[in-house]
Amino acid sequence: MGLKKLFINTIGCQMNVYDSGQIQSRLAPLGYEPTDNLAIADVIILNTCAIRAKAEQKAFSFLGRLLPLKETKPELIIAMGGCVAQQEGQKVLSRMPHVDLVFGTHAIRRLPQLIQRIAATRCRIVDIEMAATISADDFTPSHPGLSSDVSAFVTIMRGCDNYCTYCVVPYVRGREASRTPDEIVSEIEHLVDHGVREVTLLGQNVNSYGQKEGFCNFAQLLDRVNRIKDLVRIRFTTSHPKDLSEELMLAFNRLEKLCPHIHLPVQSGADAVLKRMNRRYNRQQYLDKIGLLRTIHPDIAITSDIIVGFPGETEEEFEDTMSLIDQVGFDGLFAFIYSDRPNAPAVRFENKIDEAIKKERLQKVLICQEAFTRKKNRALTGSIQEILVDGLSKHLNYISEDRPTHDGKDGMQWSGRTGTNKIVHFMQEAPADAWNQMLTGRTMEIMIEKAMSHSLWGRPLS
Ligand code: 5AD
Ligand code: SF4
Repeated sequence: MGLKKLFINTIGCQMNVYDSGQIQSRLAPLGYEPTDNLAIADVIILNTCAIRAKAEQKAFSFLGRLLPLKETKPELIIAMGGCVAQQEGQKVLSRMPHVDLVFGTHAIRRLPQLIQRIAATRCRIVDIEMAATISADDFTPSHPGLSSDVSAFVTIMRGCDNYCTYCVVPYVRGREASRTPDEIVSEIEHLVDHGVREVTLLGQNVNSYGQKEGFCNFAQLLDRVNRIKDLVRIRFTTSHPKDLSEELMLAFNRLEKLCPHIHLPVQSGADAVLKRMNRRYNRQQYLDKIGLLRTIHPDIAITSDIIVGFPGETEEEFEDTMSLIDQVGFDGLFAFIYSDRPNAPAVRFENKIDEAIKKERLQKVLICQEAFTRKKNRALTGSIQEILVDGLSKHLNYISEDRPTHDGKDGMQWSGRTGTNKIVHFMQEAPADAWNQMLTGRTMEIMIEKAMSHSLWGRPLS
């Protein structure tokens, strides 16, 4: 039996990226190897995101475009997984007659049997069963072929119990549940054995890791991960401000592998909006946590998420968000226009904000943040930063536009990240092949020479 080809399209967050890796690992034993050529695929899997309406539309339009392919190749198996699959279930099959399988966020471990059944009997299946706890075989070690990267994601928990009123996650990812510390540590050890040097621990709210199950807490888990030999860097996301403990803040000082960066979504700067969002902290409590973080670790980079145009958001409430952005001075910000989600309670809230006003508010946030991002980047010029090299620069065109001339010499452009998660590009005067093995995955000292709007430019010191 020859090898069969698997095409996966991933939309959405890092957790979906991790899940797509799990899908690939599950199907490899069946003889499926990845391809990025749709035309030769035997199985096409779309891993979907339901966080905003746009992501959901993107999923259906991708599936729609597969119809001609299916018509010429009826044995092709087309599957939709992830959050939209969980949310829509059976409806996907009625809407998309050429789709064979809809599998939810808890069904990945059953994927091999589902695919085999469809291949054998050409039936159509919906599997959106969810479980309240994680069972031992819900996760599988990542397929070694996948781990050639320097940096990898590791899901440490799934689901969410917070029920922010705008958010679909609790409905499509289920109840919060944590993986055991042993399982997490052994997965990371496996990744490190295959060349990974940096892991990002993933969960909707990592600060409540292990609480339900009575495992160790998140700070204690970080202690264990910090002891893994040959692992160089640890990152994590996402933290809910209400659960960010002082113990975790202190970990930034105690653990040498933990990168000095925290993503702490605030969503709004107005108390009344935070209340309507069910965030369970207020503006002052958020600012107090930022203050404490910076007292404990003055150089820590802080990034956040903002939603503009939440139902009922008045001009004053929006101004409170603007003033919070000003007051904190984030290193980076992801700003989103509020999007109505079926299931999420805010869909029924009154006083929806006009699209034009939402767009205007988004622009204001983006412009304000742009200045902070540039200022934070500029502050690093002249400093020496330790970076972990990812590999050759992927954005050569962008860089060549505003890159300073580098002594007139030529070489290859490389990129890496600082502990604070800023992208640094640099030149290395040697053929790519020879250096690839030597530089990728290494830490290097870089003298920062120029700050650009979204990255830094520097010169290697060694
Ligand atoms: N509309 C807009 N943005 C949303 N987010 C979550 N739900 C919605 C929604 N319905 C944003 C939040 C969250 C990020 C991952 O996506 O800011 O932190
Ligand atoms: Fe959604 Fe809130 Fe849970 Fe984050 S904490 S996943 S925003 S419900």
